[in-house]
Amino acid sequence: MNLDARFKMYEEREALRLLDKLWSWDLKKLPDANDPDYIEVRDNMMMRTWYIRRFGFALVSKQFSDSITQVFNENKIGNFVELMAGTGFITKILLNQGFQGKAITLEIPDDKDHKGIHWGLKKTPVYKQLVDSGDMILGDITEMEPMESDCVVVSWIPQGAGYVVKDWCEKTSCEYLVVIGEGYGGCTADDDFHDYLENEFKVQKRIYIDSFACIHDDCILYKRK
Ligand SMILES: C[S@@+](CC[C@H](N)C(=O)[O-])C[C@H]1O[C@@H](n2cnc3c(N)ncnc32)[C@H](O)[C@@H]1O
Repeated sequence: MNLDARFKMYEEREALRLLDKLWSWDLKKLPDANDPDYIEVRDNMMMRTWYIRRFGFALVSKQFSDSITQVFNENKIGNFVELMAGTGFITKILLNQGFQGKAITLEIPDDKDHKGIHWGLKKTPVYKQLVDSGDMILGDITEMEPMESDCVVVSWIPQGAGYVVKDWCEKTSCEYLVVIGEGYGGCTADDDFHDYLENEFKVQKRIYIDSFACIHDDCILYKRK
């Protein structure tokens, strides 16, 4: 084994050890955002790569889970649909908190079939569990009949794919939308989507979320105007 491969193996082992210490696979254990180990994950650029493979793009903590739970309760949001859910880890946190909901996303390919762009996501235990329980619907959202819910949840909409969420919201009467990601000029969604948010929704409440180094995530509950 050459030195690069040895280094990578060591780095991966250390990274995964830290992630396992902080987050249980089923997201029932979440880290405190003030824990120095969590801050190490948040601020170390390399950790983001391993975190995405283990969970996904949004950096979740106990504070995030408490905050979104409180905001859902305050606004009487009982059920949700998460669009473009990736591994479904946000849905899993909400289900753990007792909310009803479904996640919808394109199927994550097996590693051996991993030829296209799939955002580095893996078939995690949470993903497999949600698929098995029927809480995760696999397929192209643009080809599906939209379903009604109190709230639509989206995290890290791919650039240029904001129309998927816009079309869904236009065809349903969901009152609320939770958006996790960056704003204008950021890495998520696109100007048309941000314009749509500004024109059709108002900011109802900010939800606690942290950002990885060099990322500027917000988590906002929007309400239709
Ligand atoms: C950047 S990833 C974000 C995943 C997850 N929301 C997160 O925060 O980790 C974008 C996700 O959108 C999904 N996606 C993109 N276009 C889609 C479509 N038309 N229908 C269903 N899922 C889609 C991809 O499969 C991928 O899981």
